Order: sequence, then structure tokens, then C-alpha cells
Amino acid sequence: LENGLARTPPMGFNNWNSTKCRAEFNEAMIKGIADLFVSKGLKAAGYQYVNIDDCWALPQRNAQGNLVPDPARFPNGIKALADYVQGKGLKFGLYTSAGTKTCDKAGFPGGLGHEKQDANLFASWGVDYLKYDNCNNQNVDAQQRYKAMRDALRDTGRPITYSICEWGRTGPPRVWEWGGDVGNLWRTTGDISDNWSSMISKAQANRVLAQYAGPGHWNDPDMLEVGNGGMTAAEYKTHLSLWAMMSAPLLIGTDLRKASDETYSILTNQDVIAVDQDRLGRQATVVSSSGGLVVYGKTLANGDRAVALSNETTAAATISTTAAALGLGGSSSYELKDLWSKTTRSTSGSISASVPAHGTVIYRVSRVGTTTRYEAELASSTPGS
Ligand code: DGJ
Repeated sequence: LENGLARTPPMGFNNWNSTKCRAEFNEAMIKGIADLFVSKGLKAAGYQYVNIDDCWALPQRNAQGNLVPDPARFPNGIKALADYVQGKGLKFGLYTSAGTKTCDKAGFPGGLGHEKQDANLFASWGVDYLKYDNCNNQNVDAQQRYKAMRDALRDTGRPITYSICEWGRTGPPRVWEWGGDVGNLWRTTGDISDNWSSMISKAQANRVLAQYAGPGHWNDPDMLEVGNGGMTAAEYKTHLSLWAMMSAPLLIGTDLRKASDETYSILTNQDVIAVDQDRLGRQATVVSSSGGLVVYGKTLANGDRAVALSNETTAAATISTTAAALGLGGSSSYELKDLWSKTTRSTSGSISASVPAHGTVIYRVSRVGTTTRYEAELASSTPGS
């Protein structure tokens, strides 16, 4: 959506993967996350949005027809929470559904038929991001429902990043075919869960959709599970690596108040984040895929390539490609920087690594001996989002 927002994939936090609707999802948690964004360097690493998901409201609208924050979870309301988050230089995101009710079985009121009223309320609270879910949609056409909220958000005059959560369920046309004019990102899959097979299935579904992504309009294979305990460190590194290659939104889905140093170190890998946030905004394509050994290639703004050698099998394997296969010819020497180990080496063109089971080696590949326009620009400006 060309609303000036999400020029690179949104980065932030959402509570859903860690709390669902349990009581621990409350004001204290969200404030704690905002505090940690600053104190633990996540804000500095580029994470910006602190978003809340389903179950923030009461089951009934008030006499004026407005949504009401659940006073047990949010005793000071949503505006005070947004103010708190924004007071730290962060942005605040909220959730509702493009249906009569949200997805939780308790059935909180949804936005269908209330788009203008709800958008105005959200804008009055200072909401910066809206995730708009798809439950209880009464079989009203998806484009119609999502466009109604797009227009209502626009008409508030407030810049609000708009996340379509339709899961790629209906169509043709599928959401990635129409979402570019409607939202800043759209879910391409059903819900992720905290295990290898779920995570990798989202990557497999999303990686074939590269042509639909770009600045302002991103494929969303769902939020991160890094740190939630159901995968190994190698698998979580694969998760972040593939999301970065696919220019996916990076929404942390673990309760950072309980996160380990290892979780923080995975989530703040600046080299991997730079691949995700590369300003060219070109999602990786699959260069080769055979027997669960997958090579992804992504063209970066300065002409470098990112390459991920990803092992979906349960045994270590050597995975190989070449600079030429990444579209990077014209030199006899390339530098490979391993973005997890931080080691660099040079190659005359072959790119190969021994990759552990469920692991991913991700390299930044540069031609040697050239100073690029992008590097020159970077040296004279500060990085923006
Ligand atoms: C379905 C969405 O896909 C999830 O991400 C989450 O928002 C839940 N609904 C909330 O009920």
C-alpha cells in the first residue's frame, strides 16, 4: 500500500505467540516489553513496533458503539499504553478482525460494519499499526472487507501501518495478488507454531511469492517463534535467516522478560537484520532446491547478494552454489561473510558450506575491489527505516 509506510518490512513485537489470550497478556507485560526494547538494544537494532493481539477488549461495545479495553488487562486503557510505548520512541500496534467477532472463542467485537468508527477510535488512541484478522467474516468478500478498513484508516489522517491477516485463504485472486493496493503486509499462511515442521512449512509456502513483495507491500509468513523453546538454536537461526531472506516482517513473538542471552543474540544479529531491512526490498528467490537442500538468493541495494544455504533434512549436508547462479558475475574474486559466525573468506565463485541438520548458513557475497555507490551514500548519511 502506497501510504508512505513500511518501506522496509516492519520490525517489532507481538504478544500472540507467547501468551495467546492468557491473563499474563496485560499492561505490565507490554510496558515491560517496551522497556526491554530500549534497555536490551532491540530498539537500536531496528525493532520499533510494540503490538498487541486479540483479547484486549471487552466482549461488548459501549453505549456509543465503541470498543472498550478490558480493565482487568489494561486498567489505564489503550491510549495510556500507546503513550507509554511512544514515550520510549517506539510505535504502538493494535488488533481487530474483519468480521463480526475476533478469532478467540470468547468472541470480542470485530470491525465489520464498524470500520470508520473503529479506525477513528484507534487513531484517537494514537495507534500506529493495525493487524486486521479474518474470523467471523460472514462470507463477505475479502477485498471488500479489507478495502473498507484501508479507506477508514486513510481517512483518519493518521499514518497507520496496515497488516492484512487473511492467511491466503480465499481466491483466486489470492491475497498476494490484490494485497499490494490494500495493505502494507499480508499473511500468506495459517498460524505458525513453535516447532520445526510448522516454521519450515511457512517458509516453503512464502518463498515462492517473491514477485509480490516490495517497499510498502510485504509477504508475511507470520510472526517469529524465536525464543519460545520448541526449536533448537540452529532451527531458530534458520527461522530468522529465512525470514530475513524473504523480506518478512520481523515481529518478535517471545516474552522478552524471560528471554535468554542466546535469544537476544539471535534476534539482534545486525548482519541478518540488514538483509531483511535492505532498502531495495527484493524478496529472495529460490536458486535451487533438491532433496531438502535449498539455496535462496537475494539481491541487495549495493549490488551484493545474500545467499542462504538451508538444510531442511535431518542430517548434515554440503550445500553449494556459485556467484554466477546468484546473478553476480563479472569478477574473479568475491568475499563471503558468514552472517552468523562473522568469519569472512574469499572465493573465485564457488559458494559452499557444510550445513548441520535444520541449519542455515547465510552469507553476504560481495565483489572484491569495488566501492559501491550505496557504500558511498551510507558513509555520508545515517541509516533510516
Ligand atoms: C488468527 C491470527 O492468524 C493469529 O495471528 C492471531 O491474531 C489470532 N487469530 C488471534 O485470535
